[in-house]
Amino acid sequence: MGPLNVAMIGEGFMGRTHSNAWGQVAKFFKPPQKPVKHTVFGMEAEHPEIFAENWGWQNFSTNWEQTIENPEINLVDIVTPNFMHTPPALKALEVGKPVSCEKPIAATLDQARDMAMTAKAKGIPTFVWFNYRRAPAVAFAHQLVKSGALGKIRHVRASYLQDWGGEETPFAWRFKKELAGSGAHGDLNAHIIDMTRFVTGEEITEVAGAIAETFVKRRPIPGTDQFGEVTVDDTVLFLARFSGGAVASFEAARQATGNSNRNQFEINGTLGSLKFDFERMNELQYYDARLPRGVQGWSTILCTHGADHPYVGNWWPDGHLIGYEHCFTNMAYDIIRVLNGLEPTVPVPDFFDAYQTQRVLEAALRSAENRCPVALADVN
Ligand SMILES: NC(=O)c1ccc[n+]([C@@H]2O[C@H](COP(=O)([O-])OP(=O)(O)OC[C@H]3O[C@@H](n4cnc5c(N)ncnc54)[C@H](O)[C@@H]3O)[C@@H](O)[C@H]2O)c1
Repeated sequence: MGPLNVAMIGEGFMGRTHSNAWGQVAKFFKPPQKPVKHTVFGMEAEHPEIFAENWGWQNFSTNWEQTIENPEINLVDIVTPNFMHTPPALKALEVGKPVSCEKPIAATLDQARDMAMTAKAKGIPTFVWFNYRRAPAVAFAHQLVKSGALGKIRHVRASYLQDWGGEETPFAWRFKKELAGSGAHGDLNAHIIDMTRFVTGEEITEVAGAIAETFVKRRPIPGTDQFGEVTVDDTVLFLARFSGGAVASFEAARQATGNSNRNQFEINGTLGSLKFDFERMNELQYYDARLPRGVQGWSTILCTHGADHPYVGNWWPDGHLIGYEHCFTNMAYDIIRVLNGLEPTVPVPDFFDAYQTQRVLEAALRSAENRCPVALADVN
């Protein structure tokens, strides 16, 4: 088995997390195939040669089509803005190469469907970097629910709150609908829709009561005295129903002062409950209602026990905490396992799975626009 030659398309924030993951994975895990950081694509003005040198990529490129076509490449990893996921993904599928793509899968439902259906028709493995599934506490929550520890799920409460979106934050692709698709919604709700689908093992069947708001309508364009018009939301809230009968609330915000990266969910079942907060990402809160009433209470599980908690046995001894970047390395490991015909540690979302999350995003936007409930069966 030769190495897995990765071409990464893009070199921003996610370019750094993915470069780190591809570089670390074979040091801490024993993947069935070793990844090689073969080529990074960046735009000419970004000087991809500097990025390549800094992050250990063997080659750099300013032409993503040629990079994907290079016969030496056997995995295309996409870390570009949302509108630039579909062209390289379809190109990779066209030339028969597996693709891993950042979330949300695409800027629009049409693009997401195109990617999902093309991958399915061609039978080529695809992956979407919903990295929070790979926080050990979240993966463990998935396993606990699957084991029946929560009984029947009644309530799901999820919110992803950030606070970087003040008036002084400069204009960027994230604030333009044609480049991003939506704002906090596609950025943050995408994660918690994916996480709650993953942890509950259920699908969302209906969205209702969505509201969207843009508080800051124009933002300064860096290096100029101009302003750019903001055409995406700053916040989107909505209610939903899950296929098992649970009701749910979702909340994404970029101006929730005091919350830097508070990605959290609470799930209440007939036998127990779980709570997760990314700002304390090594911990999972668990309430076991099967215990005698007198000793029932929330317990804080430090998910660092290698023998019991997913992924962490590959990192440090018990109690030695891990961080954000480890989730990406855990994901890189599972991508390589799947590419080699092995089961991932916990399920990895492919394009078809991420398309289901995109359908929920779209349903919430329609619900907000038309002020009415939207059945997922009507969003395809
Ligand atoms: N999984 C996560 O936790 C997470 C966090 C942040 C961002 N993201 C996702 O990752 C993707 C990239 O976000 P980011 O924060 O790294 O963005 P970024 O702006 O930091 O980097 C984007 C990179 O894409 C490339 N690029 C930009 N415009 C391009 C164009 N027109 N054509 C080709 N390439 C272009 C450039 O190399 C740029 O550096 C987005 O889809 C975003 O939603 C995921």
